[in-house]
Amino acid sequence: MKDAETASVRKSKKRQAKPKFIKTEKTPVEPFDPEALIEVQHLTKKFGEQVVLDDISEKIVQGEKVAVIGPSGSGKSTFLRCLNMLEDPTDGYVFFEGNNLCDYRIDINVQRRRMGMVFQQFNLFNNMNVLKNITLAPVHIGMRALRRAQRKNFLIKAGNLFRPAAKKKPLLSVRTSKKEIKADAEADAMRLLERIGLADKAGAYPSTLSGGQRQRIAIVRALAMNPKVMLFDEPTSALDPEMVGEVLALIRELAEEGMTMVIVTHEMGFAREVATRVMFMDGGKIVEQGAPAEIFGSPKNERLQDFLSKVL
Ligand SMILES: Nc1ncnc2c1ncn2[C@@H]1O[C@H](COP(=O)(O)OP(=O)(O)OP(=O)(O)O)[C@@H](O)[C@H]1O
Ligand SMILES: [Mg+2]
Repeated sequence: MKDAETASVRKSKKRQAKPKFIKTEKTPVEPFDPEALIEVQHLTKKFGEQVVLDDISEKIVQGEKVAVIGPSGSGKSTFLRCLNMLEDPTDGYVFFEGNNLCDYRIDINVQRRRMGMVFQQFNLFNNMNVLKNITLAPVHIGMRALRRAQRKNFLIKAGNLFRPAAKKKPLLSVRTSKKEIKADAEADAMRLLERIGLADKAGAYPSTLSGGQRQRIAIVRALAMNPKVMLFDEPTSALDPEMVGEVLALIRELAEEGMTMVIVTHEMGFAREVATRVMFMDGGKIVEQGAPAEIFGSPKNERLQDFLSKVL
């Protein structure tokens, strides 16, 4: 017993002695802003020799609706994809809720769950019906938590066999079952589908739906994870014109409810109306940004003026 105690004391000392922040090349030099939901510092991305993002430092606070505009190839998608580490930055840091996503000790999957991403091409699973598409991730996460609790309880029970009655450890409370997790996720999914008027499509496969319906389901699928921020990459540019409206209406509704969002878009009218801030990217840099009225009303940068003259 004494040996075991000394071992545990030794272990805890060792744990304390470990530096809290291991200095690596991924350790930021500047402190992050605790007010920011997302902060990037000196974000740089290169594909081979091509510099696609060039030393971008930017903050996005909760409740902001940021529209990213700019010519094709300016790095908009790459910027968005770096925010949730779908692209690994070549240099610089990305903080989300104060967590340094470039730190190798961060579980990026846990962080990514809080950042809903919607792509141009919907990215639904075509071999699953709508309900399964929406519930897949929540059920997977719920089941993982359940299995982890069950595994811990198994170890506690086994340990308790050797502990005297006074020292037996209490079991973790496991209130759910697989059936309940699934039922909860399905109830949530149905609520979301009802909200967008597609409850009757729960059993349908994506290939039988219109582009607008598929994209709204992709949005709802992201919402099922209760994200803190939604990242949209040209969510309407693969749609037939008559379907653009229904998708934008849903995004506008989310914006009005206070969802923080970053949206790469070619819909200038939408950006002007919904965004609280517009960023204009060109050549891997944010060359001008500001309130929509400023950006669209009195653009200062020549390249922005040129861009707007072509798209407006
Ligand atoms: N995986 C990759 N490998 C190599 N080059 C890439 C890759 N992804 C993007 N690029 C290049 O990086 C540049 C920026 O691409 P990005 O997709 O971010 O631009 P964009 O502003 O989103 O353009 P668009 O409006 O056409 O979507 C482009 O020149 C592109 O060819
Ligand atoms: Mg793009």
